[in-house]
Amino acid sequence: MYPDTESAKMLEAPHLLRPFNPQDLSAVIEINRVCLPENYSPYFFMEVFKSCPEAFIVAETSAKVAGYIMCRVEFGFSDTRRFRMARKGHIVSVAVLPEYRRQGIGRELVEAALRALAGNGAEECFLEVRTVNEEAVRLYKQMTFEITRTITHYYHDGADAYLMSIKLTRP
Ligand SMILES: CC(C)(COP(=O)(O)OP(=O)(O)OC[C@H]1O[C@@H](n2cnc3c(N)ncnc32)[C@H](O)[C@@H]1OP(=O)(O)O)[C@@H](O)C(=O)NCCC(=O)NCCS
Repeated sequence: MYPDTESAKMLEAPHLLRPFNPQDLSAVIEINRVCLPENYSPYFFMEVFKSCPEAFIVAETSAKVAGYIMCRVEFGFSDTRRFRMARKGHIVSVAVLPEYRRQGIGRELVEAALRALAGNGAEECFLEVRTVNEEAVRLYKQMTFEITRTITHYYHDGADAYLMSIKLTRP
């Protein structure tokens, strides 16, 4: 029996994660435009890369770059421990092309970024996500991120964001 289309997609896309390099820029910009309403200039992507290259990671299949995650490290009030300052990883953007979703790539990208951020000395990690983005919220909750607060009108179109955060342990 032949696999159905969904199964075939899953079978044909083995992938590996590797660090972003500047030659990936156009592929990453394309994924970002396809997947998210928040689009950035090439300069912005490169600035995020330079600020924390080890936590800018791509997922590559034999055919193409299928997903990416990019992060910064910031210093500010802790989202997980009250009245404390902390070195915090910030997941700026993560996306997987629609045809490569539900194969574990998104989760692997986030896991790899969390390891890289912890290795960079981050004590916790946070991100903003549209409150209506059920797939992404479910992914983060599954990874034990918690909703720290809701930021109303966070996005240009007026949509609200959850700020979600997770404690990191030093490697
Ligand atoms: C969110 C996103 C990165 C997930 O990528 P992915 O490779 O499909 O994720 P995974 O296959 O690793 O899924 C991990 C978990 O996420 C959740 N999830 C992902 N897609 C889902 C969907 N369509 N419906 C319900 N849950 C979903 C599930 O809990 C899933 O675990 P499970 O497969 O064991 O049920 C992807 O959907 C995407 O690029 N979305 C558009 C961009 C975006 O929203 N980025 C996040 C902005 S903060």
